[in-house]
Amino acid sequence: MIPYGHQTIDDEDIEEVIKVLRSDWLTTGPKISEFENALCDYVGSEHAIAMNSGTSALDIAVASLDLPRGSEVITTPFTFVATSNALLYNGLKPVFADIERETRNIDPEDIGHRITPRTKAIMYMDYAGHPCNIDEIQDIANEHDLYLIEDACHSFGATYHDKKIGSLADLTVFSFHPVKPITTGEGGAVVTNDPELAQKARMLHSHGIDRDTISRYGPDAGWAYDMKMLGRNYRMTDIQAALGISQLKKIDQFIERRNEIALYYQELLQDIELISLPMTKEKIRHGWHIYTVLLEGAIKRNDLFKYLRRENIGANVHYIPVYRHSYYSETFDYNKKDYPVTEDVFKHIITLPLFPEMTEEDVEYVVSSILKIIHSL
Ligand SMILES: Cc1ncc(COP(=O)(O)O)c(C=O)c1O
Repeated sequence: MIPYGHQTIDDEDIEEVIKVLRSDWLTTGPKISEFENALCDYVGSEHAIAMNSGTSALDIAVASLDLPRGSEVITTPFTFVATSNALLYNGLKPVFADIERETRNIDPEDIGHRITPRTKAIMYMDYAGHPCNIDEIQDIANEHDLYLIEDACHSFGATYHDKKIGSLADLTVFSFHPVKPITTGEGGAVVTNDPELAQKARMLHSHGIDRDTISRYGPDAGWAYDMKMLGRNYRMTDIQAALGISQLKKIDQFIERRNEIALYYQELLQDIELISLPMTKEKIRHGWHIYTVLLEGAIKRNDLFKYLRRENIGANVHYIPVYRHSYYSETFDYNKKDYPVTEDVFKHIITLPLFPEMTEEDVEYVVSSILKIIHSL
């Protein structure tokens, strides 16, 4: 099976992990701050807090804003459920805005329609690694005094108008799951330029305690610590951080290869009328976490999906709109008619494989399989 996404791990990554396994610190050790500093250097932010998943990092980013319970946060329904679940964990109400067809990102114009006096933040997600229209979202936030949280789980390594993702919103969240731009197995991070938010996020991710283990270690260190807020244990291990440091050295290489593969797909698919290709806006470096196309006219998404799976191609669907999941439909009263673009995109979208180790022959095999089903119609 050619999967839709896959990690790239080399001997150097494995060596770095083994070194940690032979050391004294499997967790709360020196590799954590080394990884956090490397993340800050790469994305151009002041603070980074590494965590055990992107989901944990979203939860902590939202919690660190300390918004009144019941506040509304505008977000996208065309995402993985973790995005809006982070709002629910914190007693907030996800208010979905519709998306743009071409990028599948939240539509800034529709954000404007969803604002009420209870709106406190906008949480946008850079679908497939294509940054949202951040300038427009920023203008809305400034006008209404709203916080911005960027779910950048797809867009680590991408840039918006020459600025790295991670330096733009109040808080930005990354995931290091194996299909993501770099991996730590499971893992994630919050980055921010705001020292107060960073301090809160750091405390919240480790029980709400004000001193970390390494600062309580050694001959001159005292034993005391204080729990100042109700936190969680979302810490990353040093084993994961060592893998992250090693992976981070290769991120630009990975993104470059992802761009080459996406470009090759565009070249091979561009003349097929029944397929509408993803577009990249100007002044964007796309992260190409996933490659999705829309099927127009006669080919049914579910038919192509089944056919590709039978051909050993790991096609997928990103995403089922969040409000369609039974937890959401049974708990809240979202109406799919309020999201016509999301519904239309959901019906027609399919994800094709894309990961750095894919070969040109793999891409050709995927495209020839698509052509076979089109010709059979
Ligand atoms: C958009 C988005 N947000 C959040 C997450 C959650 O990240 P993780 O799997 O690291 O918890 C994912 C991962 O699939 C994602 O795609």
